[in-house]
Amino acid sequence: MSGVVVIGGQWGDEGKGKITDFLAENSEVVVRYQGGNNAGHTVEANGKKYKLHLIPSGILYDESLCIVGNGVVIDPAAFFEEIGYLENEGVTVNPKKLMVSDRAHLIMPYHKAIDSLSEKERGSADIGTTGKGIGPCYTDKYERSGLRVCDLMHREVFIERLKTNVEFKNRIIKNVFGGEELNYDEILAEYMEFAEKLRPYVTDTSVVLYDLIKAGKKVLFEGAQGTLLDIDYGTYPYVTSSHPISGGVCIGAGIGPNMVTSAVGVCKAYTTRVGKGPFPTELYDEMGDHIREKGFEYGTTTGRARRCGWLDLVIVKYAVRMSGLTSLTITKIDTLAGIDKIKVCVGYEFNGKVIDYFPASLEDLALCTPVYEEFDGWDSSVHHATSFEELHPNAQKYLRRIEEYTGTRISIVSVGPKREQTIVINKL
Ligand code: GDP
Ligand code: IMO
Ligand code: MG
Repeated sequence: MSGVVVIGGQWGDEGKGKITDFLAENSEVVVRYQGGNNAGHTVEANGKKYKLHLIPSGILYDESLCIVGNGVVIDPAAFFEEIGYLENEGVTVNPKKLMVSDRAHLIMPYHKAIDSLSEKERGSADIGTTGKGIGPCYTDKYERSGLRVCDLMHREVFIERLKTNVEFKNRIIKNVFGGEELNYDEILAEYMEFAEKLRPYVTDTSVVLYDLIKAGKKVLFEGAQGTLLDIDYGTYPYVTSSHPISGGVCIGAGIGPNMVTSAVGVCKAYTTRVGKGPFPTELYDEMGDHIREKGFEYGTTTGRARRCGWLDLVIVKYAVRMSGLTSLTITKIDTLAGIDKIKVCVGYEFNGKVIDYFPASLEDLALCTPVYEEFDGWDSSVHHATSFEELHPNAQKYLRRIEEYTGTRISIVSVGPKREQTIVINKL
């Protein structure tokens, strides 16, 4: 039985798309289990750059089956837009290659409206969401008023529940936020069209997955976002509304824990974050700007500049613990090339002591000062390395320190955005 989960070990954008695509070559199934089109996963392959948001990064392989699991929130408009984009790029997408869970919740126009209205309402305390309606959709799921894909497949059920929801949401939009009410008839017409287009893709994906895993197929679970954006374990409330950690896989894909055999944590060789919230190793100087420009750290989904800082091993160790990571993938070591002295955070000074765990309270986190170790840098030759031994000795030392601190071996080192710029140094 082989189920591998790819987890973001920091605040998202670690290169999960690239690594999922790389591993998908030897997998038969690729599954998204949480989040929605707030994700932006970039894959550079076949001489092209693909940007994926909702559809698993295995879609570029003709032989892969891709599954959008029940834990994902689906905006049908975004779903079909992405299919259109992929087809334009010459990628085949059809219901044999892509399946959608009948239990997944639907992002509705009122979710998107409320996402942006509540962000505005929060003023300077805004979260900096992607504005895709993710939080409000998960809110409805847990409040038990959400609409699921299977509801959309039953016209009468959908019509009735949509009416109740639009009426209620309009009261909130108008009376709480002073916003503009949405038109029920327009939403209904739009979603009825989606229903017929979506129908061929819809199935009980948990059944499909169970049978495939039992038959010995290799399955890859593609995490979106990252450990510190997890609703329970992230920097709450500056988080997303789902569980990116490995614990999210069972719930979000409908499988048992014994079906996940390894968990790979993808981490950048430094740290980035997009949106608001604490970030202990953030760099506010030219070094931060340098890393942003060199690493092209701009959001795949919103185009926002990503905040940049040194690698924080307290966070990576936390990710190892939260997801039971069996190995790490370190990406973008090429971005650090040319920097003379590179810092790595190995603890936080907190109330006169040095701690190596990530505190729950943002107030405590604000009192934490990173403790750094300094490393000699390396040159751009890392770009062309094809084995661990070919990496600059200082880069090797850096990677070995990550392994030592986290007690976790590195399975893959990524030295550039392209599929072939990937070095496997250990088993997953
Ligand atoms: P994801 O959300 O975790 O999939 O990451 P994103 O795709 O949002 O951001 C990662 C960015 O870094 C993308 O533009 C990738 O093409 C790029 N990337 C991934 N690995 C490497 C690497 O090792 N070196 C460089 N230079 N770029 C990389
Ligand atoms: P990938 O999969 C980085 C951030 C947003 C915001 C917070 C909440 O590409 O790594 P949301 O729209 O989810 O309610 O926003 O989470 N965020 C991400 N940051 N990468 C992502 O996805 C993200 N998805 C959401 O910027 O701070
Ligand atoms: Mg991303």
